[in-house]
Amino acid sequence: MSLQENMRPATARKSAELSGTVRVPGDKSISHRALMFGGLASGETRVTGLLEGEDVLRTGEAMKAMGARIVRNDREWIIQGTSNGCLLEPDGALDFGNAGTGARLTMGLVGTYDMATRFVGDPSLSKRPMGRVLDPLRQMGVQVLESAPGDRLPIVLRGPKHAAPITYRVPMPSAQVKSAVLLAGLNAAGVTTVVEPVMTRDHTEKMLAGFGANIEIVTDREKARHIRIEGRGRLAGQVIDIPGDPSSAAFPIVAGLIVPGSDIVVENVLMNPTRTGLITTLLDMNADMEIINRRLAGGEEVADLHVRGSELKGVTVPADRAPFMIDEYPVLAVAAAFAEGRTVMEGLEELRVKESDRLSAVANGLKANAVECEEGAASLVVHGRPGGRGIGGGTVETHLDHRIAMSFLVMGLATEKPVSIDDRTMIATSFPEFMDLMGGLGAAIE
Ligand code: S3P
Repeated sequence: MSLQENMRPATARKSAELSGTVRVPGDKSISHRALMFGGLASGETRVTGLLEGEDVLRTGEAMKAMGARIVRNDREWIIQGTSNGCLLEPDGALDFGNAGTGARLTMGLVGTYDMATRFVGDPSLSKRPMGRVLDPLRQMGVQVLESAPGDRLPIVLRGPKHAAPITYRVPMPSAQVKSAVLLAGLNAAGVTTVVEPVMTRDHTEKMLAGFGANIEIVTDREKARHIRIEGRGRLAGQVIDIPGDPSSAAFPIVAGLIVPGSDIVVENVLMNPTRTGLITTLLDMNADMEIINRRLAGGEEVADLHVRGSELKGVTVPADRAPFMIDEYPVLAVAAAFAEGRTVMEGLEELRVKESDRLSAVANGLKANAVECEEGAASLVVHGRPGGRGIGGGTVETHLDHRIAMSFLVMGLATEKPVSIDDRTMIATSFPEFMDLMGGLGAAIE
């Protein structure tokens, strides 16, 4: 059956005020890492709050194929790890579906093993650049036995007898590249150092330290972080409670802001400072949003967010905030479509290599719905229409990208005319309960 026949469109319509209290699923970045590090550690890891989305479940399958035992017992996931250095050669290809995080981090995790591992993915993942991970792995002695042109999937890696530790300066702000090198370092004798000139989400460093890795972070005078990890150490199983994903919380939050009269609470949202750029930006835009019940859970700060319908104002989002809200630009562009004046977003080059070229997917979706915008090489300017007057009425191409799908369904809740998307199926990769959760708040999506 062709992709076309599998597509399931959806339409969002202008909705009455949204109300209620919701919890979004567990953080995707932490969920991938919980399965990977638990699968690698010695002994048992128990995880609650895991995101049971397709992307994360693929990572679980990959870890199982390499010797970890992973079972779900009621609401808890129980993992018996192989021990560091003891992953087994998988029988077949590791299929990561749509998931860049799963694919790239696992390349780091097993690329240095003296065995052949084949990585495959869906048509979106197969278009995404993998050279950013293969380059440092090559320096560690990893051979790329097979790859599609431009270092793309399908890829077959084979590690050397003994991987060489390296010092690697990450050339683009990417937590995935940082993480892949650190994970490769776990299987190299000696100290591997990642130099990160621009800080990105720090879940790998924090969680590896929690699992007992010998990891040290020093910030130099230029503010670059030097992350040193000692290879071949012992990791010990942990108990992990995963907080709600701020990148998923972004959808009900923006919906609550743009639908007049709304009053909603999103509970238990991860407030790690490397992930809160959208919240900072929305507050700058005059969002009526309170951060309440700040507390610590499993070494991370979490909070509840109380959001009310707001009269948003356009702002300029500084480029250096991009790494702290990189996945939230599509839904920020939707908020900007309702703000008074212009919203200027800069430093967006990484958006071009996400699940889709998100910069052009967003600009085209806005234009299809009569929202004025200008797409630059690494920037987007959106001219808002307060009240959603005269906008909507279009169908958005989602290009196998869950965040494009959810963002434009949120937009249609407050536009004068309905907004349709060509395909809702990818939403299951990160937020399987999106439709039900939004419906429960009063959103008219079908
Ligand atoms: C992620 C890092 C980010 C982000 C992705 C998840 C992670 O990608 O876009 O959704 O879990 O490390 P990059 O590191 O490529 O920017």
